[in-house]
Amino acid sequence: MDEQKGEPLMSEDVKILVVDDESIVIKSCMTVLKSGGYNAEGVLSGREAMQKMEETPYDLLFTDLKMPEIDGITLIQWIKKKRPETGVVVITGYPSQETIRDALDVGIIDYVPKPFTPAVLLDVTRRAVEWVKGTTAVEQKPQDEFPPSMLQEIDRVIQQYKGKPGSSIPVLQRCQEIVGYLPPQIQKIVARGLKTSAAEIHSVVSFYSFFTMKPRGDHNIRICLGTACYVKRVEEVLSKIKNSLKIDVGEVTEDKKFSIETVRCLGACGLAPVMVIDEETYGAMTPKKVPEVLAEYS
Ligand code: FES
Repeated sequence: MDEQKGEPLMSEDVKILVVDDESIVIKSCMTVLKSGGYNAEGVLSGREAMQKMEETPYDLLFTDLKMPEIDGITLIQWIKKKRPETGVVVITGYPSQETIRDALDVGIIDYVPKPFTPAVLLDVTRRAVEWVKGTTAVEQKPQDEFPPSMLQEIDRVIQQYKGKPGSSIPVLQRCQEIVGYLPPQIQKIVARGLKTSAAEIHSVVSFYSFFTMKPRGDHNIRICLGTACYVKRVEEVLSKIKNSLKIDVGEVTEDKKFSIETVRCLGACGLAPVMVIDEETYGAMTPKKVPEVLAEYS
């Protein structure tokens, strides 16, 4: 986690509750989250989740949407009233645009499509933890790290779109052009300006891949962690790239030349494992091919 968001939050400090009516999903989430060092528990119904959350605050809740008795949306609405500080991530099979829209409207911060790979679950969790940490840090930190002219420009954009329906995407696009990326501080300013919640703005930022919460290098490398790429050992390719560039996912090299991002599917599963640098797609990647591909950009 980078310094601008304050003290790093250790994964064992992060309390996660997973709710899903399929015990196999709970089981696999527990295995993966515990392998990442997270303090995770699982329950099989919305009612049990409510009981747990009445007693204990959790940093994150992962919930299915389709569940008998209390469905995911009802559970999320309840959490927004009772535990607004908890970040909510939806785990769902075959999500339609509509389902995701409903979930975004009630303020989720991200979603994981079922079936998911361990790499995707850990990646979403890492980002959700950054969000939890980021929103807390924003409350405590002045926004003086951004030049006043930049903040004025952002304010002008917000005033231009304020009160218009569907304004969050164009405002965020403009803000990304102005700042270069959309850190939690900027998301918070947009949320306040558009009179909406930080969680809703964050959902939009994480849902659309053209938004980024981290600065990008001159050449942005996107690695797919989706199922087809995962089974073809994309993690070995990722680890070779990280070692070659000496940066982690979400970071930029010292010379600002490269940055690395992970995505869930690049829509080229037949070429797995796949990575994209800027607009160029590289299929059937192997760790051996990494140096020659990177050399094209040196
Ligand atoms: S899973 Fe990697 S491109 Fe689809």
